[in-house]
Amino acid sequence: MEFFIVYSSPAGSTKKVARAMNEILWKQGMKTFAADLADPIATATVLRHIAASEDHCLCIGSPVYACHAVPPVTSFIAELPAKKNCCAVPFITWGCVTSGLALYEMAEALVQKGYHIAGAASLPAEHSMLWQAEHPLGKGRPDEQDIAAAQAFITKISKNIADQIAGIEPTTLNYQPELLRETMRNLSLDAVREMLPRKTVDATRCTQCNICMAACPAAAITLDPYPTFGPACFLCYRCVRLCPEHAIMADFSTMEAGLRQRAAMFQEKAEPRFFFKQ
Ligand SMILES: Cc1cc2nc3c(=O)[nH]c(=O)nc-3n(C[C@H](O)[C@H](O)[C@H](O)COP(=O)(O)O)c2cc1C
Repeated sequence: MEFFIVYSSPAGSTKKVARAMNEILWKQGMKTFAADLADPIATATVLRHIAASEDHCLCIGSPVYACHAVPPVTSFIAELPAKKNCCAVPFITWGCVTSGLALYEMAEALVQKGYHIAGAASLPAEHSMLWQAEHPLGKGRPDEQDIAAAQAFITKISKNIADQIAGIEPTTLNYQPELLRETMRNLSLDAVREMLPRKTVDATRCTQCNICMAACPAAAITLDPYPTFGPACFLCYRCVRLCPEHAIMADFSTMEAGLRQRAAMFQEKAEPRFFFKQ
């Protein structure tokens, strides 16, 4: 049994979880292959391996954006070839506002491809829009304990697979209160795009160093001669974070209060959750 660990992680939390899972599986002698969906070569390679394998477990990780998985993850799942005897483990990190419908929707899409859901995991994380805030939502998460719990979880999953213990039904992951589901379903990145901070470029600071373009997980940036953002931009703000000259800017100062209000409204416990057959 081979484990493919595939993730999108513009701000690094999902990657932290993915790496920890990879490391523990590898230590236990499993064959693993990890791919960051921001890397087109790794993505093409893992898709090729998956197409050639009839006996694998696909662990696929996404941050939660506007209650859903991010476009690189949903597109990757859509591109997967149909499988019969393989299993999948969707996992998410979320910024302590709400984990939304991401896990459930990922599991449903994987089942559509023929995968069995061996288990699923949801981990709280620092909210990736609040990195400049003094006390961001989810500060310091996922922490050591969260990571240890994620490793124990994936160890249990690999044991369950070896023991041929059945997985879970995607409906187990449909855990949001029914009243909120419809609202969450109608939310989308496009719907919130106008409400999120707009990126601006200060041409006097930009040195055209190319870092933003190379780091963009959606290949949405062109230097024209200064950064311009194409329609594939899914608002991860990685370019704002990484620009060494602070030439790409976005004002998040008004976001924090609103996000805290939403977190209070959703009342979702910022704790790791793991779903599997005991
Ligand atoms: C555009 C955008 C939308 C987000 N939407 C949500 C959300 O609906 N709920 C939530 O709890 N966190 C939300 N977050 C925070 C991320 O889900 C969280 O920080 C995640 O851990 C980021 O993963 P990464 O570090 O792997 O990129 C959002 C972040 C961004 C940039």
